Amino acid sequence: MLKIEHLTKSFATRNAVSDISLSIPQGQMVGIIGRSGAGKSTLLRMLNRLADPTSGSIYFENRDIAKLSGKALYEWRASCAMVFQQFNLVGRLDVLTNVLTGRLYHHGIMSSMLQMFSASERAFAIKALDRLGMAHTALQQADTLSGGQMQRVAIARALVQQPKILLADEPIASLDPLNAKIVMDALRTINREDGITVLANLHTLDTARTYCDRIIGLQDGVLVFDGPPEKLTLEMAREIYGAEAEEAFSEGMTSTALAGVPAKERLTERDLQRHSDMSMS
Ligand SMILES: Nc1ncnc2c1ncn2[C@@H]1O[C@H](COP(=O)(O)OP(=O)(O)OP(=O)(O)O)[C@@H](O)[C@H]1O
Ligand SMILES: [Mg+2]
Repeated sequence: MLKIEHLTKSFATRNAVSDISLSIPQGQMVGIIGRSGAGKSTLLRMLNRLADPTSGSIYFENRDIAKLSGKALYEWRASCAMVFQQFNLVGRLDVLTNVLTGRLYHHGIMSSMLQMFSASERAFAIKALDRLGMAHTALQQADTLSGGQMQRVAIARALVQQPKILLADEPIASLDPLNAKIVMDALRTINREDGITVLANLHTLDTARTYCDRIIGLQDGVLVFDGPPEKLTLEMAREIYGAEAEEAFSEGMTSTALAGVPAKERLTERDLQRHSDMSMS
């Protein structure tokens, strides 16, 4: 259970996040919506302590996250993985190494820099890539991938952190509809199969409605909606999005029957073994 109490973040004269209180049970998939500047990123960044709250508390399993420092903060960041709109891969490194950097939290910085990853960690990373239909790219340089592929690799990197929470800041905002669907399906699968809580800032209402158990609406840093998608009325959505309503409604993903990860991109057990051997040689 993630519990946020009276969380506030102020910048100069204004509150980016204003007195937000929420409880999020483990395993929920939550969409955070709101117009540009509403405070969505600031809220996520406080949860993994990329930003420090001005006031209020964040509790996870009864620990006050806002007060963590040093090793405890490092451990918290391991269990609270984040994916970004721009993927944040290291372009000149291969895909597998990018994924393995997610192990850094479990590993110590020095051995990670020396790329001293064990065979089982490499196999684990390949398995994570395979879940995203990306194992065939393991030895490819990351900057040769398409945007959708990069985001799938970024999710695999988050997975090898073995997080309890996955924070996704506009994970599909740079993607075309097909890749957006593949990435959202992947987040949903991870949420369901692994019981990882997913909190995603989403730009389009349709996506939030389609994938999330719960929608949180922010307006000027204030929580104005918190409930299941079916309770979010059109009037409320229009109020949340204000001048951006047209865009938020029209950019919705179509519900065409697109496949998730194409079957031909999934590997057999034998392929997995071969990849893991190759990557060690
Ligand atoms: N480091 C900062 N210094 C000053 N103001 C900031 C800083 N970060 C965010 N803000 C302000 O806080 C408010 C909320 O920003 P935030 O990035 O959280 O919004 P958002 O909902 O994620 O918007 P978007 O949809 O455009 O990504 C904005 O007014 C923004 O200008
Ligand atoms: Mg943002």
